[in-house]
Amino acid sequence: MDAYLRDIPKAELHMHVEGSLEPELMFELARRNSVTLPYASVEAVRQAYVFGNLQSFLDIYYAGCRVLLHEQDFYDLTWAYLSRAAEQGVRHAEVFFDPQTHIDRGLAFGTVVTGIRRALLDGQQKLGVSTKLILCFLRHLSAEAAMETLRQARQYKDWIVAVGLDSSEVGHPPEIFRAVFDRARDEGFLAVAHAGEEGPPEYIWQALDLLKVSRIDHGVRCIEDARLIKRLATEQVPLTVCPLSNVKLGVFRSLAEHNLKKLLDLGLCVTVNSDDPAYLGGYIAENFQATQAELHLSRDDIHRLTRNSFQASFLSPGEKRGFIQELDGFIARRR
Ligand code: ADE
Ligand code: ZN
Repeated sequence: MDAYLRDIPKAELHMHVEGSLEPELMFELARRNSVTLPYASVEAVRQAYVFGNLQSFLDIYYAGCRVLLHEQDFYDLTWAYLSRAAEQGVRHAEVFFDPQTHIDRGLAFGTVVTGIRRALLDGQQKLGVSTKLILCFLRHLSAEAAMETLRQARQYKDWIVAVGLDSSEVGHPPEIFRAVFDRARDEGFLAVAHAGEEGPPEYIWQALDLLKVSRIDHGVRCIEDARLIKRLATEQVPLTVCPLSNVKLGVFRSLAEHNLKKLLDLGLCVTVNSDDPAYLGGYIAENFQATQAELHLSRDDIHRLTRNSFQASFLSPGEKRGFIQELDGFIARRR
């Protein structure tokens, strides 16, 4: 089953490229860029990755980003993710990046986005992985700062398919960013937002009704609101669920208690994703493998999850059809 889950064609729709910075690459970049790390070794870094909640993770995640200084660093980071993803059956990835984390340290928007873009192009050419790029605004910063980031993104419009909203959720409701998302959609960006990870169902309503998002990132707290469940099922709003992340960040006490299977059984368009694979327990295959084992997912469940991943993507209808045919062919051959 583990090889099947690794190899089955899939799309990954929720991963932060900065969250794929493995300790080994962190050390290499620290050396290359003469940045001092607060860790003695790669092993010490891994031992420091014990998180009680989202904020305790974000503090370490943003600190890790300090080693990223040059365009080549962003290339190497993105390339490393795509190489791992390709080995795990990822045929299409929609990659998040947090430009404000880097701009606020004095880097140029262009340095960040050009390095990532170059790796995405190589990912298509050399690995055969299709990709799209999503710019996330940091919700612990102001709407004005997000608007300024959107202004800087305009020049790279052709490289960025959508805007998103991430970072510390509680106390930073989507409504604060309504005007920014209005502007972004007017300019032709699609929209997604993290909501209902640690925050209440109300934040999911706001993301849908005020930010007019196409997908909800996480969304697992929708289970507390029957009317919301009905809306998500009726409209087939995709949820990009990240099971191992949710356990590492204390959203669920254990994987056995995760509600992914319940959401699937309620008819929601659920997908499986890694979020921050270097920090939160693994890449997409490890997420599928652990979740299948703990929640006793059937082959049918797995096929729904993988089909949903292409269906929920920002690919064109023709591209979706092509990948779903590939998926159906894989399933038929392995019967
Ligand atoms: N940034 C990176 N990972 C995140 C997560 N799981 N939630 C919110 N912001 C994030
Ligand atoms: Zn996330």
